[in-house]
Amino acid sequence: MKFFVDTANVEEIKRINNLGLCDGVTTNPTLVSKEKRDFEEVIREICSVVEGPVSAEVTALKSEEMVKEAREIAKWADNIVVKIPMTEDGLKAINILSKEGIKTNCTLIFSAAQGLLAMKAGATYISPFLGRIDDMGEYGRELIEDLKTIIDNYAFESEIIAASVRHIGHVEDAAVAGAHIATIPGKLFPKLWSHVLTDKGLNDFLNDWEKYKEELGK
Ligand code: G3P
Repeated sequence: MKFFVDTANVEEIKRINNLGLCDGVTTNPTLVSKEKRDFEEVIREICSVVEGPVSAEVTALKSEEMVKEAREIAKWADNIVVKIPMTEDGLKAINILSKEGIKTNCTLIFSAAQGLLAMKAGATYISPFLGRIDDMGEYGRELIEDLKTIIDNYAFESEIIAASVRHIGHVEDAAVAGAHIATIPGKLFPKLWSHVLTDKGLNDFLNDWEKYKEELGK
């Protein structure tokens, strides 16, 4: 399973990359806006720091403009993936871009039908939004299971990116349901490796070690 970092913050990306845990990056207009930097400049910098795919989203709504914007974004680096929203125009754009060899990430997927259409259009990645589905009182994990089944049934090449990941359980759900990738906010990573019983256990071991050395007079 691959981990992407869901942020446009270069320092966060570097920290996770240094741990060997960053297989790629996803951004969206909200995440880029938080950085208060030029869009192209920040995406180019992220692409130079990370070897894996980096998703950058179009903001146009009409397919012709999406395609135009996507072609420009795709020139910024070799590891760019263009994020396109799941709309009728988005599907049209994905279809055109996939034929040109431009990698796409179809975003804002909330149903198996939407995922199936994105796969048929040739999306490289499809992004179901786990957290936002759970917010509606539904189960994001079930959607990932269904999308995985569809991919396996028809040997689609699209990979599932579990997005809108908000807590440890979402990462575990994504892994158990068979998502190819989970895109994880930088701030969530420390929670993945931390556990109160790990801290307590380590503390106990070291205390016992100190006592043992004192007893032996070392
Ligand atoms: O990858 C999409 C993600 O950034 C959205 O997350 O928490 O705003 O639903 P959230």
